[in-house]
Amino acid sequence: MEKYSNDRPKRLRDMPLGHSQREMFPNGTPSLRPADAAVFEFRRKLIRHPAFTTAVQAIERCHLYGHHLVEEPDCLLITGVSGAGKSTIRRTYAARYPREELEEITMIRVLDLELPAAPTIKNVAERILIALGDPYPDKGSAETKTGRIITLFKSCGVELVMLDEFQQFVANSEGKIEYKVADWLKQLINATRVPFVLLGLPRCKRILELNEQLRRRFLPQATLSPFSIKTKREAIKFAEFLSTIHSQTPLSKPSAFIEPAVVPLMFYATNGLIDYVMKLTSSAIQIALEEERECIDIDVLRRAFEKAIWSQVDRERNPFDSEFIPRLLNKDGEPFSGYC
Ligand SMILES: Nc1ncnc2c1ncn2[C@@H]1O[C@H](COP(=O)(O)OP(=O)(O)OP(=O)(O)O)[C@@H](O)[C@H]1O
Ligand SMILES: [Mg+2]
Repeated sequence: MEKYSNDRPKRLRDMPLGHSQREMFPNGTPSLRPADAAVFEFRRKLIRHPAFTTAVQAIERCHLYGHHLVEEPDCLLITGVSGAGKSTIRRTYAARYPREELEEITMIRVLDLELPAAPTIKNVAERILIALGDPYPDKGSAETKTGRIITLFKSCGVELVMLDEFQQFVANSEGKIEYKVADWLKQLINATRVPFVLLGLPRCKRILELNEQLRRRFLPQATLSPFSIKTKREAIKFAEFLSTIHSQTPLSKPSAFIEPAVVPLMFYATNGLIDYVMKLTSSAIQIALEEERECIDIDVLRRAFEKAIWSQVDRERNPFDSEFIPRLLNKDGEPFSGYC
């Protein structure tokens, strides 16, 4: 099973470079208990579920076509709700093409970055220039910055750009769109002839609905849908996904979460989102190992749900409690409110 390079837990990943362990842990580094080590190891695993593979193949196609065609490149939009795994896909793909430091220049075949909140031409251009290693990313007008981006794309050998958090272009919940930035992006794609992969929440699609020129370039689209149990087929897919995860757990005996009767409970507990499945199973592994159990039983899942997903849960709304009344937990104040 592959490990992804940028996949340290978010808090560590987000630490500024050069942050020493002493600064992170002023009272000394806490010692790593075996249960923690096993959980870290588990969380580093990359699960290649079908939607993940489909999205990666779509990126490969976009990359390959962009590399071989000189005409306007076809771009790709990948959408999915929060926690569906978009950024994981981006990081995994980018990690296949590490930067190469040559004597005069850094080769960056895949440029991978997140859009800033409240994007403007200025701050997006700056962000791209920083990622390209421009020594003065904030210097110059929007036009000169764009010019430098085009030159640096050529000299760094950029073949593909992956822009995450694309929903930032839809400025607010009323759907106001940053047209100027979207137009600028279109011009950048034309000028560089490099395909762009945009990743973001489902509301990104609105940008393309309203901007026909961008839409034409983003006909290929991929959606990372959460798992579902609505149909038998979907429920089987979710059960297979849980089995794959199960094969990665460090416990010696089969755990409850792959039992047919527990699969729907796993769905209610996670809303079918990989993020929550990983949170729940990691927490269950930790509890089981700390208590020296050989497997994860339903009671461990009940406590893991409380610990990792909803600390205030009552018995009727904990999917692993005998009092649970089966339903989606998406009302106000519940863990999946806002999700369908
Ligand atoms: N393929 C995968 N294998 C293993 N774990 C994964 C995978 N995809 C996602 N995860 C887990 O889910 C968490 C959330 O995933 P990710 O950050 O990629 O979601 P996202 O769609 O980018 O969410 P957001 O829209 O909030 O940024 C990851 O930190 C990781 O723990
Ligand atoms: Mg993300």
